[in-house]
Amino acid sequence: MTVEGIRVSEGWLERREAADAAARARDLVEQVRPRLPSGGRRVIHDLACGTGAMGRWLAPLLPGEQHWVVHDRDADLLAVAAADVPGPAADGASVVVEPRRTDITRLCAEDLAGAALVTASALLDLLTGDELAGLIDLCAAAGCPALLTLSVVGRVELAPADPLDARVAAAFDDHQRRMTVGGRLLGPDAVAAAVEGFERLGAEVLVRPSPWRLGAAEAELAAEWFTGWVGAACEQEDGLGAAAEGYTARRVARARAGRLAVTVGHADLLVLPP
Ligand SMILES: C[S@@+](CC[C@H](N)C(=O)[O-])C[C@H]1O[C@@H](n2cnc3c(N)ncnc32)[C@H](O)[C@@H]1O
Repeated sequence: MTVEGIRVSEGWLERREAADAAARARDLVEQVRPRLPSGGRRVIHDLACGTGAMGRWLAPLLPGEQHWVVHDRDADLLAVAAADVPGPAADGASVVVEPRRTDITRLCAEDLAGAALVTASALLDLLTGDELAGLIDLCAAAGCPALLTLSVVGRVELAPADPLDARVAAAFDDHQRRMTVGGRLLGPDAVAAAVEGFERLGAEVLVRPSPWRLGAAEAELAAEWFTGWVGAACEQEDGLGAAAEGYTARRVARARAGRLAVTVGHADLLVLPP
């Protein structure tokens, strides 16, 4: 399992949920709707669901009875996903959530048999190339659309700009591509690799930008994101910590005051089986 040392905090997922919802590419949902089975209960598998934000965003945008099977290996996050269930479907039909403690890299085709839709959010960049290949095969075997949202693409814009931004951004991207016991993480290369892998199997892949745009109204989130961004970069590049000391303090204070506009590039993919 790739990210065995990394735990995502419940608080962080909660604080970013609104920014994620605002960033997600809604027009892809329009493409999903007509491709759902016409009647009956739709089974949707959300892979690496965290606290279940994807379901809370998507379920009320889709019509009909929905059964969300939410998978995560983190029992604490999964408990939140099971408790904080999505509102009713777009037409008022019921939505139920079934939590499953799963290592998604070990799922097999039978686990997703009968799925109407597979979803994942903020996951692809955390995978190795082999794990992504496994996920692509899994989705292909499921034979239904897959909505894979909010993968980082390695584009960060900060306004006003600072001369050190580019060095920090490069070190952060290297950190995202770091070696782990399971192999090298894809980080910002995940989207291109996913598109290529799905298209090789004959699927159509729709790609949409889904950037976070954090301004004065999201000042605390921007400051928290910035702190994590610089922290990861400094962990990656020897000497950057000392060079970035004044920079970090200055930029965090600016972010907290709502005077740093942050754009973090993501992409959403909708995979349509052949
Ligand atoms: C960045 S969080 C995203 C959570 C959620 N999808 C969202 O968008 O809010 C990544 C999630 O992937 C889960 N995860 C990572 N690798 C996993 C694996 N191999 N099996 C199951 N869950 C995994 C983590 O526990 C975490 O909940």
